[in-house]
Amino acid sequence: MADNDRLRDVAEDRDFEIGAAVAAQPLRTDPAYKKILRNEFNYVTAENALKMGPLRPDPGVYDFNDADAVVDYARAHDQSVRAHTLVWHNQTPEWFQEWDYTPEQLEEFTREHVHTAAGRYRDTVDTWDVVNEAVADDGTMRENLWYETFGEEYLDDAFRWANEVAPDTDLYYNDYGADGVNVKSDAIYDLVERMLDRGVPIDGVGLQMHALHEKPGIDSVAENIRRFKDLGLDVEITEMDVAYLPGDDPGDQEARWEKQAEFYRDITEVCLDEGVDTMIVWGVRDSDSWIPNWFENLTGDPLLFDSGNDPKPAYDAIKDTLANYEA
Ligand code: XIL
Repeated sequence: MADNDRLRDVAEDRDFEIGAAVAAQPLRTDPAYKKILRNEFNYVTAENALKMGPLRPDPGVYDFNDADAVVDYARAHDQSVRAHTLVWHNQTPEWFQEWDYTPEQLEEFTREHVHTAAGRYRDTVDTWDVVNEAVADDGTMRENLWYETFGEEYLDDAFRWANEVAPDTDLYYNDYGADGVNVKSDAIYDLVERMLDRGVPIDGVGLQMHALHEKPGIDSVAENIRRFKDLGLDVEITEMDVAYLPGDDPGDQEARWEKQAEFYRDITEVCLDEGVDTMIVWGVRDSDSWIPNWFENLTGDPLLFDSGNDPKPAYDAIKDTLANYEA
């Protein structure tokens, strides 16, 4: 591996997709951001632009500006696209939260939303997170409005509607805190198995891998991936970032970044060992990360590039693993 090889080149040599979550704003205004994105990553997901809230400012209105900006940029730079997400309890429009719908209206609204969004990108998006975070941390079904109205078959409908308009797009269930084998991933395993039994067109399971308050054990992640693959499903690492609580933080930046790099290395090795060919990090530079805005007790530098646009040890660890690791 030559030092000037880009991460995406090393990934492509190995048929691997290394991705980043992207925001529309810096994509329009920040040349350094764009340069890293197009040079280093061969897979892109929209961090917010394809969520229902940003997409649906008013009843009956779609605003595809930001989503199109992300998808068009990716296509122009030969990057695959993961779209996130069609049905999720968070980041729904305010007007929607206040809407006093009947079950029929909610079904019609959701079908129309899935058909419109997934249909628009049928030829430009490779993968959709059809349903995000439908299982609660204790392994019960999350009591979101779709579950309360329709029961768990709301997932079946969402996947079928997406498949109707985007038959060539890979359709994923995506969740956090289910990276290793635990009560939540057990429940997700049972859920997707029931969906497969019902003939639902699901292609894969996304493990978000927000390694924040607790880090999953590496062997447990491997075992978890294997069991989903044994069901015939694909697995992708979809939203990775690595941060530490005070007691867990080595203290100085250099030591923290080394520790972080080791975790990124471990997960990359698990991917190569278990036939997972996609790993996405949840942002480009540390200054782009959602972590400082959401978790004030966590270290705020969870990504592969620092806030001055320079690659960190985690970047080198992934690149070295992709270039040299023998699975
Ligand atoms: C986060 C975004 O990064 C933030 O910008 C936004 O304010 C909230 O959502 N799991 C998911 C992602 O599936 O959509 C979330 O993204 C992070 C957790």
